[in-house]
Amino acid sequence: MEKFYDEIRAMAPAEEPARQYYFIEQVREILKEKKTLLGRPLTFCVVTFGCQMNARDSEKLRGILEEIGYEPTESEEADLVLYNTCTVRENANVRVYGRLGGISSLKRKNPHMLVGLCGCMMQEAHVVEKLKKSYSFVDLIFGTHNVFQLAELLFRALTEDRTVVEIWEKTEQIVEELPVDRKYSFKSGVNIMFGCNNFCTYCIVPYVRGRERSRSREDILGEIRRLRDDGVREVMLLGQNVNSYGKDLAQPVSFSELLEDVVRIPGIDRVRFMTSHPKDLSPDLIRVISEHPSICRHLHLPLQSGSSRILKIMNRHYSKEDYLALVDAIRAKIPEISLTTDIMVGFPGETEEDFLETMDVVRKAGFDSAFTFIYSRRTGTPAAVMEDQVPEDVVKDRFQRLLAEVQRIGRERSSRFEGEIRQVLVENVNEQDPSLVTGRMDNNLLVHFPGDASMIGTLQQVHLDQSKGFYYMGTKVR
Ligand code: 5AD
Ligand code: SF4
Repeated sequence: MEKFYDEIRAMAPAEEPARQYYFIEQVREILKEKKTLLGRPLTFCVVTFGCQMNARDSEKLRGILEEIGYEPTESEEADLVLYNTCTVRENANVRVYGRLGGISSLKRKNPHMLVGLCGCMMQEAHVVEKLKKSYSFVDLIFGTHNVFQLAELLFRALTEDRTVVEIWEKTEQIVEELPVDRKYSFKSGVNIMFGCNNFCTYCIVPYVRGRERSRSREDILGEIRRLRDDGVREVMLLGQNVNSYGKDLAQPVSFSELLEDVVRIPGIDRVRFMTSHPKDLSPDLIRVISEHPSICRHLHLPLQSGSSRILKIMNRHYSKEDYLALVDAIRAKIPEISLTTDIMVGFPGETEEDFLETMDVVRKAGFDSAFTFIYSRRTGTPAAVMEDQVPEDVVKDRFQRLLAEVQRIGRERSSRFEGEIRQVLVENVNEQDPSLVTGRMDNNLLVHFPGDASMIGTLQQVHLDQSKGFYYMGTKVR
């Protein structure tokens, strides 16, 4: 039988994405037989950990699986379970191993079940070793550069009697134009670049996502036009560091130039982007945002630390003063902007004075919200071997103080729109109270207001009646 499948593999076209469409057809045939044999449909469940990049990759994985003929389910009692993993902090890894522990008994119950793992954790050799040794029931392991190959890898997992492992360390290839199952019909992420060149000393991302690779301007604009034709009104341009978009292209394009092209596409009402590195955020970008109302008044600008000394050891290429000056420059041109950030405590060598500098920036910058993290030691990064790792009790105490301050300021800042009329993109009917719908303002804050399912995907003018801290209760005005 394996020989027969070898021949099918040998006949696959070499070029992408045609090769993957070929395997989609092949796997569909195999599944058809299985379905007939079992007398029921086959189901899949994709579990996503981590950031927006992973969320977008999961939409691609789902798109391919549906095209193959699997039916989606939320339950891990499925015929195919895929974990799309994150490794940015240790607790993300711990959660994946926990879930895997539970799945082995499900697999014993269902002999047709396949278990796959992909995403950032798989780019680490020690993880793959551990999986092979202690979780030998896993059928399929692939890396961040191999997402587009899912159909081909699944073909192998279904026809070979061993764990299929495909992990590229790096790639120049960007394969898009495969089926995508979007979570929302009216908004979508769009990858504009992959990877990261910054090598902040705490961060594992450059090791697991590779060097920066920008997609061509034409490809990005083409994808957005197709999304628009398919009903999308809001796009989120995605990259680890969008401000360095286009520097690696044969004909370099800047991020602000790309953004100006995107806002000119008729029918796209809102444009967001993530993530900006403070060192690369140009005055030109601030100008472009200020000139185009369809660019959301929201910037996510990771601070990490407020201590210039620590920032230097982190390899961030800006000081406390640079960061605050940038915030001032942004606010001077775009006063209504909402700023959000990422902050970590407990980086090696962080003293109480360093921490107080962080608290000082938190107060001065006035973030609308902040993701706060405890530093997590990542094997292979320069910071992992630095001396003076901060004791756990000290870190926890700092974390609590930071969180309390961030929340106090966030609540105060987020309530500043009370009484105003704002545009809201309706996302869903409220789960707790079906007489309400829930949507987002352009600054990303949630608003609940009376409405019905027919409003989903539409922009509504809403009076913000009352701030509830991090969300609003409102009323539609017309
Ligand atoms: N420990 C804790 N937080 C980290 N982040 C990245 N690496 C680490 C680490 N080793 C945080 C940063 C980044 C966000 C996505 O995750 O704040 O901006
Ligand atoms: Fe996203 Fe980074 Fe986590 Fe990968 S490691 S999922 S890039 S946050």
